Amino acid sequence: MEFSIKSGPQPTGRNGCVVVGVFEPRKLSAAAAQLDRTARGALSAIVRRGDMQGKAGTSLLLHNVPHVPAERVLLVGLGPQNKFRDKAYREAVATAMRALNSTGAEEASLHLTELAVGRRDPVWKIAHAVKVARESAYRFTSMKSKSEEPEPALRRLKLSMSGRAALRRAGAGLEQGLAVAHGVALARDLGNLPSNVCTPSYLASRARELAKHYRMKVEVLERSDMERLGMETLLSVAHGSTQPPKFITLEHRAGPKKMKPIVLVGKGITFDTGGISLKPAAEMDEMKFDMCGAAAVLGTLKAVGEMRLPLNVVGLIPTTENMPGGSATKPGDIVKSLSGQTVEILNTDAEGRLILCDALTYAERYGPAAVIDIATLTGACVIALGHVATGLFGNDPALVREIIAAGDAAYDRAWHMPLWDDYQEQLKSNFADFANIGGRPAGAVTAACFLARFTKKYKWAHLDIAGTAWKSGKEKGATGRPVPLLTQFLIARARKR
Ligand code: BES
Ligand code: MN
Ligand code: ZN
Repeated sequence: MEFSIKSGPQPTGRNGCVVVGVFEPRKLSAAAAQLDRTARGALSAIVRRGDMQGKAGTSLLLHNVPHVPAERVLLVGLGPQNKFRDKAYREAVATAMRALNSTGAEEASLHLTELAVGRRDPVWKIAHAVKVARESAYRFTSMKSKSEEPEPALRRLKLSMSGRAALRRAGAGLEQGLAVAHGVALARDLGNLPSNVCTPSYLASRARELAKHYRMKVEVLERSDMERLGMETLLSVAHGSTQPPKFITLEHRAGPKKMKPIVLVGKGITFDTGGISLKPAAEMDEMKFDMCGAAAVLGTLKAVGEMRLPLNVVGLIPTTENMPGGSATKPGDIVKSLSGQTVEILNTDAEGRLILCDALTYAERYGPAAVIDIATLTGACVIALGHVATGLFGNDPALVREIIAAGDAAYDRAWHMPLWDDYQEQLKSNFADFANIGGRPAGAVTAACFLARFTKKYKWAHLDIAGTAWKSGKEKGATGRPVPLLTQFLIARARKR
């Protein structure tokens, strides 16, 4: 789909559709009222008859509206005007896209972008319209032998903006929106691929491809390299698998040489059986999504590369399967991490923290401005926050605030969780420096506490995306979160300089 920005009322080309909003109850938006004047009252007549009440989530497709130079007019319900904020705006655009994609319209002119959305600026409105439009058109079809539904006819979407100043800035919104949408689509594709395709080697090859395309630096450490370095906790997770583990580093260096990088660390368990602490069979297929942290790092770097953000950003991806097997790590085994600290592995299903801790120690060598890890780390986080907010932990209040603000702006929200030392007691081990599990209470917190023992040398935040990285049930699939949050965080950092 092609996007463009236009001002004022736009005639659509042949086979087009004009999209305008109606507030609840029965109140035409400014663009709808203007169109109504052209149509000599045809729209207000329809609204008066009660065929479009303005309820959120509803739409009405009209053909041959008198005097309007477009084949179709789509009325979209916006809900009450005084409640029209971020969520309602995004839902209105999604409703419009859903309706458009089931018509034969090849071109549409979307006037919802002219609406006032709280205090959001034109950049935000355009960026979110683009993101929602791309998201609603996303299909994962690469594993189907033949297509099941015809491609939507829609080719061009014109986003309408009024006012000179707004128009001037809207281009930035389009660029950001597209970059994030492409990053999200990559993260979703990688997440949705089955684990027999998306192996650690496959992730490495996709990282190499990104590096080539965006002129980034890439390095892939092999098992022998990791042995030499002493990444024993990471390797302990890989012992049961026949797939070779990889440690991927991908560097976007578009900032000043001396500028400290932001390091993103993504959990890349391409399948989590639990290992010897085997998971139950029900829904185990969803553990192919256990590399969504890694996917988010690659998706974010794609967006950053596409925008050529003037920053230094490093992506680190420890990746392996977690399998049972004759040489798999067993409960009670003790291993030495890259940091030198020893860990008693009481449960082999708490493997994410074991691969992350070595990556977090490795991150020290970059002298980072900040390190953010992203991981589908705990079922407990899903219980705590559900599928709405990502769990956020950190050792630096300013960094935490920055990430919360980025999540709000991106509509990809995170909620601050405690990381108090009081919880550290739960990780006590009788045999090693500490254990890899802290019992049932506050499972998301003790997992973060484990990581905190490896991140004392820099500003650090941890995003537990176990509840937000994918959806279960009928709409099973990766969401691409938190690529929008991370990209927004980096855009804001680039602007601050
Ligand atoms: N990948 C899982 C976490 C997970 C589980 C995410 C379910 C989403 C849905 C992780 O490796 C894991 O198994 N965590 C254990 C930790 C426990 C053994 C301390 C968990 O959450 O049960
Ligand atoms: Mn696990
Ligand atoms: Zn896992």
